[in-house]
Amino acid sequence: MCGILGYIGNQSKTVDVLLQGLTRLEYRGYDSSGIAIIQDGRARVFKSKGKLSKLKTKVKKHSPKGLLGIGHTRWATHGDASQKNAHPHVSGGTSVVHNGIIENYLELKNELKKKGFKFYSDTDTEVIAHLIEDTIEGGLCFEDAARAAFERIEGSYAIAVISDKDPDKVIATRKFSPLILAIGDHENYLASDVPAILPFSRKVIYLEDGDVAVLERDTISITDIDGKHVSRDVQEINWDPISAEKCGYRHFMMKEIFEQPRAVLDTMRGRFSEETGDVYFEGLDASLFKNVNRIVALACGTSYHASLIGKYMIEKIAKVSVEVDIASEFRYRKPILDNKTLAIAVSQSGETADTSEALLEAKGRGATTLCITNVMMSKIARDADGVIYTHAGPEIGVASTKAFTTQLIAFYLFAIYLGRIKKQLTKKQSIEMIKEAISIPQLIEITLKLDGRIKELAKEFFKYRNFLYLGRGINHPIAFEGALKLKEISYIHAEGYAAGEMKHGPIALIDEDMPVVLIAPGDGVTYKKILGNLQEVRARRGKVIFLTSDPGAQELQGIVDKVIEVPDSSYLLSPIISIIPLQLLAYHIATYKGTDVDQPRNLAKVVTVE
Ligand code: F6R
Repeated sequence: MCGILGYIGNQSKTVDVLLQGLTRLEYRGYDSSGIAIIQDGRARVFKSKGKLSKLKTKVKKHSPKGLLGIGHTRWATHGDASQKNAHPHVSGGTSVVHNGIIENYLELKNELKKKGFKFYSDTDTEVIAHLIEDTIEGGLCFEDAARAAFERIEGSYAIAVISDKDPDKVIATRKFSPLILAIGDHENYLASDVPAILPFSRKVIYLEDGDVAVLERDTISITDIDGKHVSRDVQEINWDPISAEKCGYRHFMMKEIFEQPRAVLDTMRGRFSEETGDVYFEGLDASLFKNVNRIVALACGTSYHASLIGKYMIEKIAKVSVEVDIASEFRYRKPILDNKTLAIAVSQSGETADTSEALLEAKGRGATTLCITNVMMSKIARDADGVIYTHAGPEIGVASTKAFTTQLIAFYLFAIYLGRIKKQLTKKQSIEMIKEAISIPQLIEITLKLDGRIKELAKEFFKYRNFLYLGRGINHPIAFEGALKLKEISYIHAEGYAAGEMKHGPIALIDEDMPVVLIAPGDGVTYKKILGNLQEVRARRGKVIFLTSDPGAQELQGIVDKVIEVPDSSYLLSPIISIIPLQLLAYHIATYKGTDVDQPRNLAKVVTVE
């Protein structure tokens, strides 16, 4: 997730608008930043690796001036965090900033290279600048050239472009990535989100997928890709600047919970073929896995819970045995590994000390290493032999939400990838599994609609002091994760258990003061067993919140206290759906209790100490 910005209007304001706007977008990524301003008919481009303060120093030293400009703050996806990969990317007189992923960039890059274009970065974005320049050289005006380029790219994007051939326009488009326009007095703006422009304008237009906007000083025209005019409402924003940063949500955690359909989609994007059933991971060498006959997954906290689910996926799909270790334990128990073992370190931040050291321990003992992480070029990403990035975008709320579901989809795709290498999956089977994955973002959207109902439920339950979460099979780690979410943000004591373990101890805790969350997607065998657990809880007067995809469960009203009905999905992907209501439940209980949801006491987002 990156932040983009554009401005046209008043020469004395351009630099200030771009730098102030980027400051407010910095939460979207801070690997590098850059701006381009057209001055005296030529683009002046400034870029810096690292924090925005470096770019500010550079820009102030050279004091560029111009009527229009674009800016970018980067969260690396293609290519490491470096100055050469910082945006804007330039080709001839065209400068481009982009947020998203261009899926067909390799194909376009090869085509452009054959035409003689030189590439200076490892990014997917650079193809857009060359495509536009190529068409301008072919005789089209800037606007038509931009449109022609937008027509050729596939993937998710919000793009802003300027050209010294037509220095009175900023052109922008979007698809699956956010982009807003804002109207000023003889000046206009564009940005990835509202907070970036809030000090300058409160009149905002939300662009829709496929819209192409041309911003001039006094006009904004919006068309579809074919140039047909489309009309979009102007909305007056009355948020204060702090809530604007959260896009209107009260907390980052809630914003991130609602970002999950997009985050999961971005993590899958460009990584499979529906026709062949193949899965690809950019930069990953398949020969690393040929001899692997055993896997150990190493992680902490929420990432550990994702790994427990990953075990189910890999064992079921690729038929390779997986052990899951808490990273801080693994390090000190002299684990037995050899060169046929694959160690997978799983970490949102890629900087967690325990996971990082566990990875090095595995490497030192001869294992091949892979990591699943959300942060490009993080320590763990640099140390591992191979990397799979989740594309959740920066996670700011301390309680991990979108990082978890993107780790799950990454594990699922990796299981198919490995299954194909190990010849455990037919083409037909993997096509079927990919289809199941494609349906997930929409099923998350449907599940998020339960928010209002879960808020009501939280109101009834927030005064309890203990909770028990029970799940079975692939959803038993969801009991752990649901309980962790509740305890870390609401400070209520909560325990997660594999439901079958209840009779071996926890059942002693159950009475009318103990709400029990039963996670019971309507899958065959384990569902029947969990109905048995339900009866055991009821017999001891425990209060039951029953989470299921079985539409018949409504008949259990009277036996259970509350039913949360989630949409049905395939067994292996059901944890991605069942965690959503539990994230929402923890969130609403915490807000009723009035705790600091985004920065709960005693916790830190990145744990770089042992
Ligand atoms: C819980 C949470 C933590 C992290 C853990 C590992 O919501 O966020 O339990 O999952 O500290 O962090 P990463 O994944 O960055 O290694």
